[in-house]
Amino acid sequence: MINLARRPRRNRKSSAIRDLVQETTLQVSDFIYPMFVQEGTNLKIEVKSMPGIHRFSLDNLLEELKEVTDLGIRAIDLFPNYAESKKDRTASESYNEDTFYLKAITAIKEKFPELVIMTDVAMDPYSSDGHDGLVENGKILNDATLEILGKMSLAQASAGADILGPSDMMDGRVGYIRKHLDDRGFTDVSIMSYSAKYASAFYGPFRDALESAPKFGDKKTYQMNPANKREALLEAQLDFEEGADMLMVKPALSYLDIIRLLDENFDIPIAAYNVSGEYAMIKAAAQNGWLDSDRAMMEVLMSIRRAGAKCILTYFAKEAAVILNGY
Ligand code: PBG
Repeated sequence: MINLARRPRRNRKSSAIRDLVQETTLQVSDFIYPMFVQEGTNLKIEVKSMPGIHRFSLDNLLEELKEVTDLGIRAIDLFPNYAESKKDRTASESYNEDTFYLKAITAIKEKFPELVIMTDVAMDPYSSDGHDGLVENGKILNDATLEILGKMSLAQASAGADILGPSDMMDGRVGYIRKHLDDRGFTDVSIMSYSAKYASAFYGPFRDALESAPKFGDKKTYQMNPANKREALLEAQLDFEEGADMLMVKPALSYLDIIRLLDENFDIPIAAYNVSGEYAMIKAAAQNGWLDSDRAMMEVLMSIRRAGAKCILTYFAKEAAVILNGY
């Protein structure tokens, strides 16, 4: 026998001991499940680039939510898919009181009062330009966009949203929305800011789901350059000062260092968005028999928690819940 003082393998010798020394944990209550709603009845349309993920009409969405909540999932992030005919330059449909998205929020809240509903505050699903900001002469206007975000936020808060997710990376949006809501009595509505949102190729499948890809150019004048880290600290600092309740990093996997950075520097909860492309990669590889979907999924989710995220927005929420619940 060789005399070794330290044998780290002793702490791995059985399943019980491995669990005893496990540093990071994952639970179903950490998940926020992103879901897609569209106008109509009896619709359940699979998103081509996201196997297992569907766009639902409200009736079917309520059915699906029974299953989702039975699995122990306690929060969703709802995104609308709008027909091209409803889109315009100013995203005016986003604050039309009678629009199906706002009605869906209210209907879900009524049927599932305990379920946390997060909404997306950005123009792109309603914009005829497919951009997150108001376009004028090919430029994305910042301050004019904030006024639209204010109206959209108020409409979503009034409809019953618990957490607003400003996702467009306009400057000053968190402070603008916070004040807009507070002035009108909505002091209890939370803001989870997409603080460090990068201009990423990994949003491709999501834009398929929403049919919301930009009609020209890209999103690089507002979303962050993937090469930058210090800038994430600045964005997070501003959102913190402007009153965000939680800070989000997006995407997750190529940005685990950014999750860690924000977790070390801010004393509010950090969230991470395990985005559509990250989901699609694992699904595609698994469909080819190239990797084990369940194991890859759990490893990815655990790594996001280990990096420092408290909660995770993930399309894997249902599948991971099944495993965590031991079914
Ligand atoms: C848009 C928005 C996007 C996502 C969430 N909100 C796409 C984008 O910025 O183009 C992406 C989510 C995903 O890829 O899963 N405001």
